[in-house]
Amino acid sequence: MTILVTGAAGFIGSNFVLNWLHSEGEDVVSLDNLTYAGNLDNLSSLLKNTRHFFVKGDIGDSELVSSVLKKYKPRVILNFAAESHVDRSISEPGTFIQTNILGTYKLLQNTLLYWESLVGKQKKDFRFVHISTDEVYGDLDIKAPPFTEENRYIPNSPYSASKAASDHLVRAWHQTYKLPVITTNCSNNYGPFQFPEKLIPLCIINAINDKPLPLYGDGEQIRDWLYVDDHCDAIRLVIKNGLVGETYNIGGNTERTNIQVVELVCKLLDELKPRLNNDSYVKQISFVKDRKGHDRRYAVDSSKIQKELGWKPEETFESGMTKTIKWYLSHDAWIKNIISGDYKKWADKHYS
Ligand code: NAD
Ligand code: TYD
Repeated sequence: MTILVTGAAGFIGSNFVLNWLHSEGEDVVSLDNLTYAGNLDNLSSLLKNTRHFFVKGDIGDSELVSSVLKKYKPRVILNFAAESHVDRSISEPGTFIQTNILGTYKLLQNTLLYWESLVGKQKKDFRFVHISTDEVYGDLDIKAPPFTEENRYIPNSPYSASKAASDHLVRAWHQTYKLPVITTNCSNNYGPFQFPEKLIPLCIINAINDKPLPLYGDGEQIRDWLYVDDHCDAIRLVIKNGLVGETYNIGGNTERTNIQVVELVCKLLDELKPRLNNDSYVKQISFVKDRKGHDRRYAVDSSKIQKELGWKPEETFESGMTKTIKWYLSHDAWIKNIISGDYKKWADKHYS
């Protein structure tokens, strides 16, 4: 048996493929069109793994997707493929509409044709699992309880609006055509292989390169953080025991202001890689212009997946962050490879 993972060369997709191959017996076909965020280095440890197959291609390319489905006959399709960076969605929304909405639509259509061609147990057991974000629920009032699956979708950025649209399409393909789908909405992930345009890897890499650690606005915005491997474990449980047509919120129960996050990065770096003059990395924190339409708070109530599927995160924020920082400190070549490419152009323009 095989599962198909789209967006497998990105941050969460690659962590998921590694997690799956380590824990489960089924093979993996990875599909990714290798945008600036897709990095084959993330999967380089699998080069000789006979249980892993990589296909370069777009989820919106119907001909390619249908040939992949015919060839590998996956039991599960996991859709991680997306444009995922809020700041880029503000300056270049078109690609978000293209991949997150139109790409998901094309993938759903091809999945439906494939699923309808299956029979018996293969058809009954098939699942389309759509990986989404807590950002679809919009800006949470400081006193409001965390998002449950019952919250209204009120997305505010081009990124979250395009993800919300894709979630609605996935739901509609279930309601209308009975495609067996499950959607997960997760909070901010952190961990190995995260592209350094996102807050945590950006700050780790800037810190050790003597660059400013940019905090938008007053730095008091709140996010809920989850270590990526805990997210991957949750998705494996959803594949096994999740109910068709349901959505599951996944979060770390770890609300932190951005300042708290960056201060923790600095504190751990002070211990793990002290600066030559022994000053704290905190001195590199620099407040910069706020993001347009910056959501103040996200927080996730994961009690449904905890109660119904028995999931809970293994890592605390401190233990997950220590693992993450150690990973970045020991992967110089991975970092250099990214910094020499598209990321540098983006960062020069965005932070100038
Ligand atoms: P990422 O940007 O690191 O990776 C996305 C991957 O998708 C890249 O490898 C890219 O090449 C690929 N891709 C993009 N467009 C494609 C297309 N048209 N066809 C095929 N592949 C394509 O993103 P990520 O952080 O790994 O996020 C993965 C998924 O999880 C996304 O759907 C995102 O919305 C969701 N999510 C992310 C977070 C987070 O904190 N990173 C939290 C919750 C949900
Ligand atoms: P990010 O990692 O881009 O994730 P998201 O926007 O999906 O939550 O940002 C996390 C938080 O950090 C968000 O409130 C924006 C803030 N942020 C900064 O303050 N400075 C930065 O340079 C970046 C990239 C993000």
